Amino acid sequence: MDASAQLRCINPDCRSEFPVTRAVFACGRCGELLDVEYPGLEPVADPAGLQRLFAQRLASGAWAASGSGEQRAIDASGVWRFRELIGFCPDESRLVTIGEGRTILQRADALAERVGFGAGELFLQYEGFNPSGSFKDNGMAGAFTHARMIGASRVLCASTGNTSASLALFAALAGFAAYVLIGSGKIAYGKLSQALDFGARTVQLAGDFDACLRRVQQLGVERPELGIYVMNSINPFRIEGQKAIMFRVMEGLAWEPPDWIVVPGGNLGNCSAFAKAFVEMERAGLIAPGRRPRLAVINAAGARTFDRMVNELGLRWQGGRYDRARVRTELERMDHAGERARTVASAIEIGRPVNLPKALRALEWMDGVVRSVDDETILEHKALIGRHGYSCEPACAAALAGARMLRKAGVIGRGQRTVCIITGHGLKDPDATVKYHTGLDMKSAQESASRTTPGGALANPPVLCADDLDALRRLFAGA
Ligand code: F0G
Repeated sequence: MDASAQLRCINPDCRSEFPVTRAVFACGRCGELLDVEYPGLEPVADPAGLQRLFAQRLASGAWAASGSGEQRAIDASGVWRFRELIGFCPDESRLVTIGEGRTILQRADALAERVGFGAGELFLQYEGFNPSGSFKDNGMAGAFTHARMIGASRVLCASTGNTSASLALFAALAGFAAYVLIGSGKIAYGKLSQALDFGARTVQLAGDFDACLRRVQQLGVERPELGIYVMNSINPFRIEGQKAIMFRVMEGLAWEPPDWIVVPGGNLGNCSAFAKAFVEMERAGLIAPGRRPRLAVINAAGARTFDRMVNELGLRWQGGRYDRARVRTELERMDHAGERARTVASAIEIGRPVNLPKALRALEWMDGVVRSVDDETILEHKALIGRHGYSCEPACAAALAGARMLRKAGVIGRGQRTVCIITGHGLKDPDATVKYHTGLDMKSAQESASRTTPGGALANPPVLCADDLDALRRLFAGA
């Protein structure tokens, strides 16, 4: 653990510092985002030894015999077993874990063949196997640890669904009061049901996700006297936890970096975390200099603010001196025009991504690209992933569709190893799946089964059959 950890403004012309013992999530001087910074992070003497320690912790067993924060429980966490690289909390007894991040990298050869990759070239980091069913649990382990560190008791987020599910679960297990703002749009029921079940006070706002997040910033960041701790990814401790996804990817590849990381982009916290993870792994001597993978961030076509800013407006990080005025005028223009994000991938239906600056930085740090894919393509790739045994919600499929597009265009070269981050479980949004396969919403699909016109090319609608043995025989005989 690094006792010298501090919060630092990412603006190179400001670089203000704040202690990690406070909940400041925007620079008090210039308003920019903050990083958790580790001045003491330097090359470790025995990188292979540290990599072995990360893995041995997982094998130590007897996890349930100890409570949260006790040694064996944190060793079994896919976040805290890498705690040397996430060392902002000097007191290990305060680390919060609910068993997050026990996910492993999966080699997906059969799927690879379907999307233009060779054997051993395509991998899925399947984060649906987290306790709340999405990658958000990685970040919540970090943010709840910080909340506990500073004595917060009430936590709040805006969410398209997964953040709220994860927050509600951590709050229920770690003893916090949880508040959730969701938009009146299309939160997937799998996610809403989790927030309700885990006891979060859930407020449905007459507005979209972007409106909810704006309110959260006003309540939590601009009004510290309310004592509400903000759990969205503007919270740099969320980003710290999400770095662990890349540590596990690296572990799965025996610490040989892949060539590409492909991730769906919404609020752009995840891609920001990934780039920070690689820069810090390099500083710690865990990967060789110059061996960072390239990054591809994939937007949904109906929520492609980042894609547009990078590829049409030409926005670049420029060492931190990105064109802030241009971003401001573009967001104002969107406000004026009443432009709203709209996509079947409800998790990433976000028009004003708050981590835009850090995501620009991530592109610079990882020689990254941004693309977008339309809803139909997302749903076809979701079905393709499902057909190959990995259940995912629509947003995740943007990653595979993006990887395929980049491979086809030759941006991802032949023989390059590519890791797609599958961010959330398919059961989060069963309506999207049923609708794809039957062409109908869930309830009516059950009632009308095969009388419907199936939705997509890989549609697998249920077949209606009389309760009759001969009819069943004919069916199974393929008649
Ligand atoms: N995939 C899933 C399944 C998500 O839930 C999200 C974000 C993303 C990708 C995008 O990640 O925001 O770091 O770029 N969901 C948020 C939420 C916004 O409220 O659950 P990002």
